[in-house]
Amino acid sequence: MNLTRLVYYSQRNPSESMDAQALIETCKRNNGRMNLTGMLHYNGDHFMQVIEGGRVEVSALYHRIARDPRHSNIILLACSDVRERMFPTWSMGLHQGMDDRTQNIYLRYFSTDVVNPETVNVESLLDVLQDLSVELAPQLRIDHG
Ligand SMILES: Cc1cc2nc3c(=O)[nH]c(=O)nc-3n(C[C@H](O)[C@H](O)[C@H](O)COP(=O)(O)O)c2cc1C
Repeated sequence: MNLTRLVYYSQRNPSESMDAQALIETCKRNNGRMNLTGMLHYNGDHFMQVIEGGRVEVSALYHRIARDPRHSNIILLACSDVRERMFPTWSMGLHQGMDDRTQNIYLRYFSTDVVNPETVNVESLLDVLQDLSVELAPQLRIDHG
């Protein structure tokens, strides 16, 4: 069966409250059931998320997320068939914040620590998300399956 990877970037809506723990519980419940995996990074202003799984399931989740009032200006950066998952053990990892380590990870792959979604290289963004997943505390890991 096909495996699809979708990447988007969005802006947090400051007038809506964001309970990260509740969000991750929702992700765990829904994504695990649909064999979806991925990583979500929230730097305080923006979200970057990669979702991987079946084409139909990825598409359905993306459309649901895109209607969520907690963010806006959602920009689809990539959506394509892939051979292998990048985040097979994460039903959805959530990395929050922009501390020194996070900034250094950004600077490892980008020329500045500000992501411009119009010009960002998606492969570099995926490298950032993969390195950020390594930074996540083990207790945040949601084993898949
Ligand atoms: C930035 C962002 C990322 C999200 N990622 C997911 C996700 O990976 N999986 C998911 O089920 N819901 C995700 N949501 C929440 C969905 O928009 C929606 O609220 C949720 O899927 C509804 O699930 P429920 O009907 O089980 O409450 C995300 C929301 C935001 C704002």
